[in-house]
Amino acid sequence: MRYHLTTFGCQMNDHDSERMKGLLESHGWSEAGVRDDADLILFNTCTIRGSADERFLGNLGDAKRVKRERPEAIVAVGGCWAQSQKEAVFRDFPFVDIAFGPGEVSRLGELVARERIEAVGAFSFDGAFSGTLPAKRERPHQAWVQISVGCNCVCAYCIVPSVRGRERSRPLDEVVGEVTALAATGVLEVTLLGQNVNSYGRDLPRDERATFAELLRAVAAVRGIARVRYTSPHPKDMKADVVAAMAECPEVVEHLHLPAQSGSTRVLKAMRRTYSRERYLDLVTRLRDAIPDLSLTTDLIVGFPGETEEEFADTLSLVEECRYDGAYTFLYSPRPGTEAAERLPDDVPPDVKRERIARLVEVVQRTAAERAARFVGTDREVLVEGPSRTDATRLRGRLRQNITVNFTGDAAPGALVTVRIDGATSTTLSGVQAGAPARADLVPA
Ligand code: SAH
Ligand code: SF4
Ligand code: F3S
Repeated sequence: MRYHLTTFGCQMNDHDSERMKGLLESHGWSEAGVRDDADLILFNTCTIRGSADERFLGNLGDAKRVKRERPEAIVAVGGCWAQSQKEAVFRDFPFVDIAFGPGEVSRLGELVARERIEAVGAFSFDGAFSGTLPAKRERPHQAWVQISVGCNCVCAYCIVPSVRGRERSRPLDEVVGEVTALAATGVLEVTLLGQNVNSYGRDLPRDERATFAELLRAVAAVRGIARVRYTSPHPKDMKADVVAAMAECPEVVEHLHLPAQSGSTRVLKAMRRTYSRERYLDLVTRLRDAIPDLSLTTDLIVGFPGETEEEFADTLSLVEECRYDGAYTFLYSPRPGTEAAERLPDDVPPDVKRERIARLVEVVQRTAAERAARFVGTDREVLVEGPSRTDATRLRGRLRQNITVNFTGDAAPGALVTVRIDGATSTTLSGVQAGAPARADLVPA
């Protein structure tokens, strides 16, 4: 029996898809290269913006065609879109056999193993953490580690809390146990995952309570782990203890993805982000003081309801002031059921949104290119990922600052090498492998 899985959305879905694959393969399934060869056509979906829905629905149309040709094929839809459509999915898409939310990944094996499948849905939020399931990982030396699921924030534009549920944290011992097991298999880099990682632990029972800073230190202390990343923190929960843990643990990388969303205090308030422009800037200053060489990236939304030209200009100047190394920029998209969609008119005209995002992207790219130039002429620790995507005679790897570098060298994937950087664009660096390995103690066998 063969499955084909298509994944949309963020790192949480990338993680959950690795678990879906691991779970299916532990039940005897193997992966099919194309949908037409699959007995199980599986999707892990996203619904963060209208464009995410559209991309998925195009793919679902293809599954409908396969189902028409081979009615015995199973079509299964998991993830955030499925959760958002739990009332309507079987009515609107009668060829879908199984639908399940992000809280029910652990039940996938049981759902597909049923004798006769007739429209079965699973949408609770109290299933096992997907992080406890077997995983089929893409990269042997890097791993996602789920530390929490769900989100207790009420960002006015965001559909995530309604499709991922209330925040639940995994016990610290369980997370550290997983990282220890990963390190034993040769994993050098872990990325701790949650919707709001730094509110970690507040929901744990009193005798297990732990803070995100404590978790960060405990994970960094695991032998064999050379790099610890995490995503995404919320600026409101970025307290001094987290900054100190980042500064003091050499394994915690000099990169932070710190979503700002807007540079205007008025818009931030309407978004219910609970910080002002000034508080965000103050946080960035404290981070930069504590962590020299920090690489900072962010998410920005353009055209939130009521956003004026002046308020948009505040976002442009925020990018200049924060000197981001990169930013994901999004057109505001009203999501059903969210506060913004229900209460605020989507009143920034589409052409104004588009014109603003073009100006924003320009500033982001210019700032990122200026920032990347600081690496040129320096030696950097690089984790080798494989051959370069553009030139197979070269290698591709990543700096601790999370920037991709294409370089000339002879190291194996998984090696930590020193690379002399000799060129930079806004998104990638180039260089030449230099001398001895950066961490001889961690060179893979
Ligand atoms: N939990 C993470 C990720 C949230 S989704 C976090 O809080 O950082 C990723 C990004 O999508 C958000 O940071 C936001 O910039 C963007 N986004 C979310 N909802 C959106 C919407 N309705 N329209 C446009 N962008 C949105
Ligand atoms: Fe959405 Fe805000 Fe939660 Fe992020 S913190 S997932 S933007 S509600
Ligand atoms: Fe999308 Fe769900 Fe992630 S809506 S962005 S896959 S949390």
